[in-house]
Amino acid sequence: MVKIIMHGCNGHMGQVISGLVEKDPDAEIVAGIDVADQGKNSYPVYTNMEECQVEADALIDFSSAKATDALLAYCEKRHLPVVLCTTGLSEEQLAKVEETARNVAVLKSANMSLGINTLMKLLQDAAKVLATAGFDIEVVEKHHRLKLDAPSGTALALADSINEAMDNQYHYTYDRSQRRQMRDDKEIGISAVRGGTIVGEHEVIFAGPDEVIEFKHTAYSKAVFGKGAIEAAKFLAGKPAGKYDMSDVISTK
Ligand SMILES: NC(=O)c1ccc[n+]([C@@H]2O[C@H](COP(=O)([O-])OP(=O)(O)OC[C@H]3O[C@@H](n4cnc5c(N)ncnc54)[C@H](O)[C@@H]3O)[C@@H](O)[C@H]2O)c1
Repeated sequence: MVKIIMHGCNGHMGQVISGLVEKDPDAEIVAGIDVADQGKNSYPVYTNMEECQVEADALIDFSSAKATDALLAYCEKRHLPVVLCTTGLSEEQLAKVEETARNVAVLKSANMSLGINTLMKLLQDAAKVLATAGFDIEVVEKHHRLKLDAPSGTALALADSINEAMDNQYHYTYDRSQRRQMRDDKEIGISAVRGGTIVGEHEVIFAGPDEVIEFKHTAYSKAVFGKGAIEAAKFLAGKPAGKYDMSDVISTK
C-alpha cells in the first residue's frame, strides 16, 4: 500500500486523484495540503505545509508554480519522493528541481498520461524506420476553445521525442500561410485546432510514398493525468535520489 500526500488536494486534479485513489487497493491518501480547505476530504488537510508531518511514501503535486520552491524544500527536508505535475515552472525553478533531485527522488512530467508517454516510445521506434525511409512527419493537435497556448506542450513533446530519436536533425514549422514553398525533408509540421470542449487529441502522421501511418491519442477526461500520477507515485516510493520521468514508469510495465 503506497501512502500518498496530495499537494493541491482541493483543486481539480487533486479531487480527481482523491476519487481514483479511493477505488485503488494499492494506494491511500494519508494527508492533503492546500491553501484553501472546506473540510470535504476523508483525509486530514493542512493549510500550512510545514504542519504536515504525516508519514508517507510519496507526494503528488498538482498545485501552482508559486508553491514549487517551498514544496521542493519541504520534500528535500523530509526525504519525501515527489511527483511534480504542476506546469509553468521558471528556468530558476527547473534548476532547483535538478538540485533537489540530488538529494531526493523527483519525477517531473508535463504530461502524466500513460497513453501519451507510451505513444512517445512508439513514435521513436516508428521514426527510426519511417523517417529514415523518407516519410514526412506532421503533428495535429486539438483542444477546447479556452486553451490559450498553441501548439500544446504535449504536441511539442511528441515532436521532441521523434527529433531526439533522429539525432535532432528536424526543425518545426507551425504556419505555412506566409510562404509558398515545398515542405522540407527535415521538417515536422505542427498544427493546432481549437474548439468546443475537446479535452485533448494528438495525431502524428507519417506520410510516405503511397502509404500513410497515423498514431492517435484521445484524452476523454483529465482522469488520464491522475491515473498516471498515481502510477508514478507507486513507482517512486522507495527510489533513491535522482531525476525521473514517465518513461521510467513505463519501462517497468
Ligand atoms: N503534468 C500534467 O499532466 C498535468 C495535467 C493537468 C494539470 N497539470 C497542472 O497541474 C496544476 C494544477 O492543475 P489543476 O487543474 O488541478 O488546477 P486547480 O487550480 O484546479 O488546482 C490547484 C490547487 O492548488 C492549490 N494551491 C494553489 N497554491 C497553493 C500553494 N501555495 N500551496 C498549496 N496549494 C496551493 C489551489 O488552492 C487549488 O486547490 C497546473 O499547473 C496544471 O497546468 C499538469
